Amino acid sequence: MSSSDILIHTERGVMTMTLNRLDRKNSITLAMYSAMADALLAAESDAATRVAVVQGHETVFSAGNDIGDFLHRPAGGMDGPAFRFLRGIATFSKPLLAAVCGPAVGIGTTMLFHCDLVYAGDNAAFSMPFVNLGLCPEAASSLLAPQMLGYHRAAEALLLGEPFMAEAALEVGLVNRVVPPTEANGVAQAAAHKLAVKPIGSLIETKRLMKKGQQQLVLQQMADEGLIFSRLLGEPAAKEAFGAFMEKRKPDFSKL
Ligand code: COA
Repeated sequence: MSSSDILIHTERGVMTMTLNRLDRKNSITLAMYSAMADALLAAESDAATRVAVVQGHETVFSAGNDIGDFLHRPAGGMDGPAFRFLRGIATFSKPLLAAVCGPAVGIGTTMLFHCDLVYAGDNAAFSMPFVNLGLCPEAASSLLAPQMLGYHRAAEALLLGEPFMAEAALEVGLVNRVVPPTEANGVAQAAAHKLAVKPIGSLIETKRLMKKGQQQLVLQQMADEGLIFSRLLGEPAAKEAFGAFMEKRKPDFSKL
């Protein structure tokens, strides 16, 4: 990873992780997952850090997992960097915010199910095209997407893999506010700084109480998905999909 692919910056109690790999549309490599997982762990145990924010660029949040890594360096099981990051966001005890503009593909969308507040630019486009890649949902999105979007809209997003835009995300409650893309990061920072001066004990207990009903279920679903995801990564459909992406052609699943 180039040391600048993830920028980590803490100011007045707010730790901000900025996805900064614009030439690859902020797709996330194993090294980037590791850096974010480490930053979340450090923020968890640092009493001075009270809130975390993940943000991208006003033109793109994230194109999801790096497809080259999918092809050459499989996720590495439940102790690998991607799962470490997923567990980190699912169990982060302090407020976690996101600012999302432009494409938010795959984990770019599914990580948002674990954020407490999400601010979107009006250019945000959310998609979970796992089936189109021969894969299955991750980040407990097979549980959380139907809960949040309703079954049929979740099926549209997860089976057809079709994108939905900021206004639709606002309607279902995946995002809190839609703002001009140039303002999204600033709006998220303002909310984070508002939270950072509130009593941390109350914030942590309130979040824990809101989540405790299904925390174990979420972690179990993530683990179940992870096993299937890892198996599917090695199968012909995924290899065809990634090969097609690299060769800039449409995948052909007709013979599989
Ligand atoms: N992994 C690795 N490289 C990626 C990538 C990814 N997930 N997403 C984009 N890139 C690369 C492209 O290959 C391209 O490289 P090149 O300049 O060498 O050709 C570069 O980033 C720019 O991407 P491009 O597709 O030209 O940008 P776009 O603005 O037309 O489209 C996206 C943006 C995000 C819609 C599109 O890149 C995309 O669909 N990416 C794949 C998303 C995906 O399937 N992710 C996995 C989810 S599980």
